[in-house]
Amino acid sequence: MKVLIFGAKGYIGSQFLSLFGDEAIASSIDIADATAVAAALEKHKPDVVINAAGKTGKPNIDWCEDHKEETIHSNVTGPKVLLEECGKRNIYWVHMSSGCIYEGDNGGSGFTEEDIPNFTGSFYSKTKGEIDQYLNQFPVLILRIRMPFDGSGNPRTLIAKLKKYDRVLDVPNSITYIPDFLAAAKALIEKKATGIYNIVNPGAMSPYQIMEKYRDIVDPSHMFEKLTLDDLPSVVKAGRSNCILNCEKLSKEGIELSPIETAVQTALGEMKTKAE
Ligand SMILES: NC(=O)c1ccc[n+]([C@@H]2O[C@H](COP(=O)([O-])OP(=O)(O)OC[C@H]3O[C@@H](n4cnc5c(N)ncnc54)[C@H](OP(=O)(O)O)[C@@H]3O)[C@@H](O)[C@H]2O)c1
Repeated sequence: MKVLIFGAKGYIGSQFLSLFGDEAIASSIDIADATAVAAALEKHKPDVVINAAGKTGKPNIDWCEDHKEETIHSNVTGPKVLLEECGKRNIYWVHMSSGCIYEGDNGGSGFTEEDIPNFTGSFYSKTKGEIDQYLNQFPVLILRIRMPFDGSGNPRTLIAKLKKYDRVLDVPNSITYIPDFLAAAKALIEKKATGIYNIVNPGAMSPYQIMEKYRDIVDPSHMFEKLTLDDLPSVVKAGRSNCILNCEKLSKEGIELSPIETAVQTALGEMKTKAE
């Protein structure tokens, strides 16, 4: 299987590169450039295209508030170009999406893949939610993850980010353990599944609860305080989605992620080993 990965230099793209090893072809072309996309598809003739390109903002999504054109270019125009160019050639493709398009827990059941986005507090989330609504009308696999983490200490992972904050939010959220995500993505791709899939670990934890476990397992000297939702606007420019996703659709495919507590424990255990 030849897997062409756009956005291959990014955090998620590089994970896919490692996952597919010799089968992977890395590309850094502009996905909104239809001529360049067409040339890459003609040259490599991939069996699968993975779109891991997009603007997430550096150092965070606040960047997207001040760079709206670039954000639309990469998060909306680019995927539309892929839809057209892969569609013309009947190439199966996969789009990296986000669960940060919802707010709340949907009355306790979590948001399913069918629920319409209800969070538009950040420009980043608006672009991610909007493009999903178009792509979902076509045979594209759309993978929704939230606040990815592992025990690598990579600065892009959730726990490495939370470590740097003096105050941490205490609102339960869905999160995605990267090793579980990659296994689930591979299983779906091998089945040539299409449609939206929420890929989060079953259960919910707040960033504050995660850091309590970090303090218990990795660094007893780590100090932090609680940040309330009311305080959040004083430390960020764009709104932040806090939500719980429903992962029954994935489970019905026979794909189970580890429970959230187990995944966090495993990641923290790895961080502890690295710190020793
Ligand atoms: N990381 C997360 O927390 C998270 C959570 C949920 C969903 N996602 C989604 O996963 C995807 C990948 O995110 P990531 O965390 O891997 O971000 P990342 O590390 O910033 O990687 C994205 C890569 O795409 C490149 N890129 C941006 N615009 C492009 C374009 N028009 N054409 C080609 N490449 C382009 C970026 O280059 P530049 O750096 O030069 O812009 C970067 O190398 C995004 O769609 C994101 O929305 C990420």
